[in-house]
Amino acid sequence: MLGKRFLGVLAICAVAMLSSWIATLAGAAPEQKPAANAQSAAEYKLTIPFGLDESAVVIPQDNPLSRNKVELGRLLFFDKRLSKNDTIACASCHMAKFAFTDGRPVSTGIRGQKGGRSAPASLNRAFSSGQFWDGRAATLEEQSVGPFINPVEHGFANHDEMIAKMKKIAGYRKLFLQIFGEDITIGNVGKAIASFQRTILSGNSPADRFDMGGEANALSDSAQKGLELFRGKARCTRCHSGFNFSDEKFHNLGIGWDTNTVDLGRYLVTKNPEDIGALKTPTLREIARSAPYMHDGRFKTLEEVVNFYNQGGVKNPHQDQLIIPLELTDEEKHNLVDFLHALNGEGWQQAKAPRAFPQ
Ligand code: HEC
Ligand code: HEC
Repeated sequence: MLGKRFLGVLAICAVAMLSSWIATLAGAAPEQKPAANAQSAAEYKLTIPFGLDESAVVIPQDNPLSRNKVELGRLLFFDKRLSKNDTIACASCHMAKFAFTDGRPVSTGIRGQKGGRSAPASLNRAFSSGQFWDGRAATLEEQSVGPFINPVEHGFANHDEMIAKMKKIAGYRKLFLQIFGEDITIGNVGKAIASFQRTILSGNSPADRFDMGGEANALSDSAQKGLELFRGKARCTRCHSGFNFSDEKFHNLGIGWDTNTVDLGRYLVTKNPEDIGALKTPTLREIARSAPYMHDGRFKTLEEVVNFYNQGGVKNPHQDQLIIPLELTDEEKHNLVDFLHALNGEGWQQAKAPRAFPQ
């Protein structure tokens, strides 16, 4: 998956280089950007924390990062006026102190309504294409506009209703015009919020400094044993693989199959029977901050999570064959949990609420 995406990026670069080369050969004038873009084009250079793979960053060609767009996205992410009754912002359910989740089993949105799934830690989103537990949004741009029309989240009937409300805020009209060269559109709201979300990263954890940086005492002895187990006997890297601890694929562990409300997960998107009950492998970065765990928020602690894997998940006809009982000793379970605690890092702490909003 990672390899494929990397090749994709290379291919895009190659095409871009080729077309500029052809343009030069043909003596064509360089493409003129509209004036409005030039103003805001101050490039935003992502600071990639140690341990993350810069070449895996996914940024669509039609939405390059710029300083102004990231700043606009930050305003939109925190602004409660972008809900039907001024009570809910993205940040209501994605709070920095909980690794951009909400600390609850399932989220509570507008008028206290509960949703059906737990809010995932929305960081390192720059490294994924498919977003949400079931991957139903193919890009972060698409993801970024979904919650506004979710009846239990921001509560608008449709995007037109939200845009009409936003257009009453002169300050936003001015910013959109400056940055995009046009009045507020839902597409541009998505581009700005996606840009901001791409700047929320997590890396340079003790585990990175030990593993990639060769800092022998960045991890305790117990966490070092945990790392070995994570890759070996406990089989975690079969799915939580690569620098972001996710294969970006979907697996059925059996969460929910011991209740009478099974979430069909990826199957709802693909209608492929192989995807029944399969959810996206989440990143494990900042995992010690983002309890409770799993798509239904059933586990309060990492110890409970490890016990669940140790017993081989919850059996069901669609369970992933990679899930088998592990026979870990109590000490080994403890080592694994210590390793998971070493995945807290940095790269998100700067993403703070704005002090004032456009009027
Ligand atoms: C009421 C709480 C709530 C609000 C408000 C909310 N979210 Fe979420 N968010 C969730 C839940 C719950 C999920 C998981 C839903 C799913 O996967 O079906 C989620 C998923 C996500 C994901 C996917 C993460 C991943 O790993 O795939 C991102 C990114 C995200 N939200 C960003 C946002 C943005 C941006 C906004 C504002 C436009 C927002 N959220 C508003 C609760 C909320
Ligand atoms: C077969 C693939 C697979 C294997 C093997 C696997 N995981 Fe997972 N992991 C997932 C998926 C998929 C989820 C989300 C499942 C859900 O909510 O239904 C998940 C969720 C988690 C969560 C909760 C994340 C959150 O944000 O709520 C933790 C913690 C976790 N795994 C740790 C581990 C550890 C530790 C191991 C090794 C003992 C492991 N996983 C092995 C695929 C896997």
